[in-house]
Amino acid sequence: MAQIAGGLGTSHVPMIGRAIAAGTQAEVPFAPFFAAYDPVHAWLDARKPDVAIIFYNDHGLNFALDNMPTFAIGTAAAYPNADEGWGPPAPRCIRGAPELSWHLVQSLIADEFDVSVCREMLFDHAGITALDLLYPDHDAPIAVIPIVLNAVQPPLPTPLRCYKLGQAIGRAINSFEQDVSVLLVGSGGLSHELGEFGKINEPFDRLTMDRIEHDPEALTRYTNDEIVDLAGAQGLELMTWLAMRGAVAGAVDVVASVYQNPISHTGGAMMLLEPRGA
Ligand code: DHB
Ligand code: FE
Repeated sequence: MAQIAGGLGTSHVPMIGRAIAAGTQAEVPFAPFFAAYDPVHAWLDARKPDVAIIFYNDHGLNFALDNMPTFAIGTAAAYPNADEGWGPPAPRCIRGAPELSWHLVQSLIADEFDVSVCREMLFDHAGITALDLLYPDHDAPIAVIPIVLNAVQPPLPTPLRCYKLGQAIGRAINSFEQDVSVLLVGSGGLSHELGEFGKINEPFDRLTMDRIEHDPEALTRYTNDEIVDLAGAQGLELMTWLAMRGAVAGAVDVVASVYQNPISHTGGAMMLLEPRGA
């Protein structure tokens, strides 16, 4: 049977990927953020998850404003990268996990989540940055399944709906008969508004991280507008963390976490959770 190894929430600022590519992780201003990933790398070495299901928001790469699914899932065997936010990236191809993807699609739709199904998808900086943070040598031994949330163009899914999507994904993983270990990733946030540097709300971000650990349902009571007021328009990306936490249900232990303010336009946040008793 498939099992959930853990859940990771992380910021996906493209400058992070650029620093990894340049090998400048140990230099200021990034050092504390990257150092916090050391225990994550040790955890990955020990647990060796097979598949990362990555919730993120597409940044205009696959879906423009004329065609915007609320939720979309990739079922491809491989995903080419594209935008990393700093000019044309070196071409890469990220391995998919089509059998688990199709199982998720079937379970989600039976569970009344009518997701868009994408046989092809470009993997944008939200996915690539998360993957490079997990596996900085750019040679990730893990397969990926992208699940895209609309955090861009109203009408948006509510935070509660994103959490419930995560819960449905958790149920689907638990009914997959192959013996795979799954890492859930929420790539986004926390508070930021591009073009309005300074829209970082550190107390809100720290409270969000605390609630992700202890009381995620408290976060589901925010409206989208309240999140925009508190955390900026791109603060809506924190819905990806809520989807991750919906899938990693129940009590959790924190394996690693960091909050560094600022990294680019955001508070650089990361948190790795493990189901209690794992
Ligand atoms: C930045 C943050 C984002 O979430 C993003 O998608 C692009 C850039 C930033 O802070 O620079
Ligand atoms: Fe973003």
